[in-house]
Amino acid sequence: MDLLILNGPNLNRLGKREPSVYGNDSLKDLEALLTQYGESKNVNLTMRQSNWEGQLIDWIHEAEDAFDGIVINPGAFTHYSIALRDAVASISVPVIEVHISNVHAREDFRKESVIAPNCVGQISGFGFDSYIMGIDFFVRRRNEDESTRET
Ligand code: DQA
Repeated sequence: MDLLILNGPNLNRLGKREPSVYGNDSLKDLEALLTQYGESKNVNLTMRQSNWEGQLIDWIHEAEDAFDGIVINPGAFTHYSIALRDAVASISVPVIEVHISNVHAREDFRKESVIAPNCVGQISGFGFDSYIMGIDFFVRRRNEDESTRET
């Protein structure tokens, strides 16, 4: 199984940016954690980060036919990028939206996601584990598919 992990704007600043909200670990640390987890679950992960909306949109389009699922942290684009929302709606690959912080416990403008309605669901507030939970959704679904095929 191949999953695409996308990180949006300012997530390259993890570890330096607002550590009281996002923790002390860097994007590299996040990617190392996910790589290790992916290997333990027999999942191939491709991890990309961009501060550019258009770049994220191109990667989402390219994911069609290339990946079995996407786990995306759209950063602040979550709250206003109709273009990212439309990109997610334009592909048949299932997408899960994740957030490190609990967006529902913060400023009002963070409580709305324009992207989540086009996703399988949203996972928010579990630190880096939000990504692990997103990956786990796809792992569990794969395992269920495999066990139905066996019976
Ligand atoms: C974030 C939450 C967003 O509101 C914020 O703009 C981010 C990070 C999170 O992971 O908690 O950049 O997506």
